[in-house]
Amino acid sequence: MRLFVLSDLHLEKHSPAKLPLPAAEFDVLVCAGDLWEGEPELGVRAVAALADGRPTIIVPGNHDRYRKGRSDPRTAADLLHAMKSEAQRLNERAGFQPISILHSGQATSVGAATFVGGTLWTDWSLAGRWLDGNLAARGLPLTPEGALEAAIAHVTDPETGSREYLGDMAPENGRPWSPHEAMAAHRRDRGLIRAALERPRPGPLVVVTHHMPLPGPVDAYQGREGVPWWIPAFYCSTFLEELPDGLRPDLWISGHFHAPHDVSWGRTRCVANPVAAAAFDPSFVVEI
Ligand SMILES: [Fe+2]
Repeated sequence: MRLFVLSDLHLEKHSPAKLPLPAAEFDVLVCAGDLWEGEPELGVRAVAALADGRPTIIVPGNHDRYRKGRSDPRTAADLLHAMKSEAQRLNERAGFQPISILHSGQATSVGAATFVGGTLWTDWSLAGRWLDGNLAARGLPLTPEGALEAAIAHVTDPETGSREYLGDMAPENGRPWSPHEAMAAHRRDRGLIRAALERPRPGPLVVVTHHMPLPGPVDAYQGREGVPWWIPAFYCSTFLEELPDGLRPDLWISGHFHAPHDVSWGRTRCVANPVAAAAFDPSFVVEI
């Protein structure tokens, strides 16, 4: 089974007409999130057009939970519902179910393969991963707790902060989005994905998340200009590294960080092919 892998389309910035078409033969399309900020349902439609009737697995990214401006009253649940409704509409029109929106550890089968998916988020435990003497010289704390505190203060500050934590993200259960909400969502998704991995299944097992389950691919960018010191905490966790090898899947597809990777951890091949990356490969297909 040939999987065409992509993520991070960010169609809020580009016309779907400019999306690169898959340049290789494939059987299943897998999209690891960040389709279309503010209009994720239109993102589902654009990804479905790329798949052209083939089975399609989509997980929501963090940007698929962004509102269309801060006066947009929609909640996180509304945006997820919009994605699922569009998939259902397209599936009904096709007369079968080629599109699956997977979240919160949900699973679906395509042939002999099982796909488990969720956004995943992060626990921010990697905030201090890149701390070194230079940071100490700039007065940043070197303990993990100090690094976490400094990172959260930085990303939530109205001057230096990220849109993610300054009101652009749709609220969940009436609470504004924050790093602490992300940590709670990570704990929830992590538990649900792990529970799905514990269920015995025949055939290949593929996990699809928006956030990365290991920090290695991001470490290559340490010290690069424009890459802040707290980046590992925002992009990844050590979920895959901490899983027993017997629970690790054959393949883990993620997105979020706008650079492709193809690495292994234990028995798991980990890949990403973000459309937003200069090195996006329209012929990147993984065979399982
Ligand atoms: Fe993202």
